[in-house]
Amino acid sequence: MNDDELMALARQAAGRAYAPYSKFNVGCAIESADGDVVTGANMENACYRLGICAEQSALTAAQHRFGLDKVARIAVSGGEGPMVCTPCGGCRQAILEAAQLSGRDVEILCSSGDGSVVERYRISALIPHGFGPANLD
Ligand code: THU
Repeated sequence: MNDDELMALARQAAGRAYAPYSKFNVGCAIESADGDVVTGANMENACYRLGICAEQSALTAAQHRFGLDKVARIAVSGGEGPMVCTPCGGCRQAILEAAQLSGRDVEILCSSGDGSVVERYRISALIPHGFGPANLD
C-alpha cells in the first residue's frame, strides 16, 4: 500500500472517532510488515482522562490482527485545519514499544486534518533517548 492509500485509511478512520468533548477527530492506520492494515480512532469518555488516542486504538487492533512486532508503518490524521497532527507523548511511547519489539525504526506519516500537509518521521526522531523494552532486557 502506498503512503496516500495508508493516509486515506487514517482519514477515513478519523470519521469514526468518538470525540464529543474535544471535537478533535483523529484517525490512525497501521500497516504490518506483511501488508496487513488495521485502523483506529480516538474514543473519548465522560470521565475525560479515560479517553484513548487513535494510535493506541489502532495499536490494540494491530496487537490482535498481526502482533505488535509486525508494526511497520503508521499514518495519523487529526483535526480539521492545516496543522499537522503528530502523535502525543503517550502514543510515541506506545509506538516505541512496538518498534523495539520488531527492531524497526517505525515510520510515521502525520497529516493535517484537511490533508494539505503530510510530514514523515521515524519513531527515533519523535522520541529520542526513549525508555523501552530494550532497557529491561
Ligand atoms: N489525540 C489522539 O487521538 N492522538 C494524538 O496523538 C493526539 C490527541 C486525541 C485525544 C483526544 O481525544 C483528542 O485528540 C484531543 O486531544
